[in-house]
Amino acid sequence: MTAQLIDGRAVAAAVLDRVLQATLQRTERGLRAPALATVLVGNDPASEVYVRNKRLACDKVGIRSIPVHFDADVTQEKLLTRVDMLNADPLIDGVLVQLPLPRHIDATRVIERIRADKDVDGFHPYNLGRLAQRMPTLRPCTPLGVIELLKSVGEPFKRRHAVVVGASNHVGRPMALELLLTGATTTVCHRFTYDLAEEVSRADIVVVAVGRPGLIHGDWIKAGATVIDVGMNRLADGRLVGDCEFERARERAAFITPVPGGVGTMTVAMLMQNTLQAAETADTPIS
Ligand code: GUN
Repeated sequence: MTAQLIDGRAVAAAVLDRVLQATLQRTERGLRAPALATVLVGNDPASEVYVRNKRLACDKVGIRSIPVHFDADVTQEKLLTRVDMLNADPLIDGVLVQLPLPRHIDATRVIERIRADKDVDGFHPYNLGRLAQRMPTLRPCTPLGVIELLKSVGEPFKRRHAVVVGASNHVGRPMALELLLTGATTTVCHRFTYDLAEEVSRADIVVVAVGRPGLIHGDWIKAGATVIDVGMNRLADGRLVGDCEFERARERAAFITPVPGGVGTMTVAMLMQNTLQAAETADTPIS
């Protein structure tokens, strides 16, 4: 078997188009365009690229983006005060603080300061708690994007065994909650897992998000499984690869995401969807 590639760029483009149509309809109804504040602290080149891509996506889908930039030595108090101002601004629907933050800033405090209904990253404990309680509000973008990819290939979820490799706060853990919500039987593997090969080999769906090239051997993959590789690793020779041995896994899986061209573009697309959702929620009168 040679797996069919899951085209993340095409699925992301479809999500972005849906968001564009919805923002156009909003302005036709006399509502303002959704607005996203992107907060960048310092000059980390990777973070600068991520934030630029988020702002470009905003431009594409009719979302107003408001850049906020602080020097790397900004005090925590000053950053928190700015978050308070963005929270209070009725013309801003989403607030995103790009991570990682410099070491002198407590990222948890900053994330928890963002108003939950403007937390378009879905990282606030309120939003994660709602996901855990099966009443999702704003949901973490990468796991939500993975579910979108799985749906795009008709994944049935129920009665299927999903294995998530990696238990990070922003990807692995919410990924497991999303998969549980679909009805998939879900296992989470992490650094203390006794026999990773054994766990992966029983999976109908494998989602790997660790950041270690070659961690998942291609011949661990069960025949006919679906493999979603969230890993993004730059090798010494400049190549970009995921966490799973792609060529060998492709011979066994039914569906697999390439790296690049798989999950990567989905995160930003789902951020746009979340920003639209935050704007729509803000418009809905509470009765
Ligand atoms: N840094 C790397 N990925 C992300 C993300 O999805 N959101 C934020 N806020 N920071 C990040």
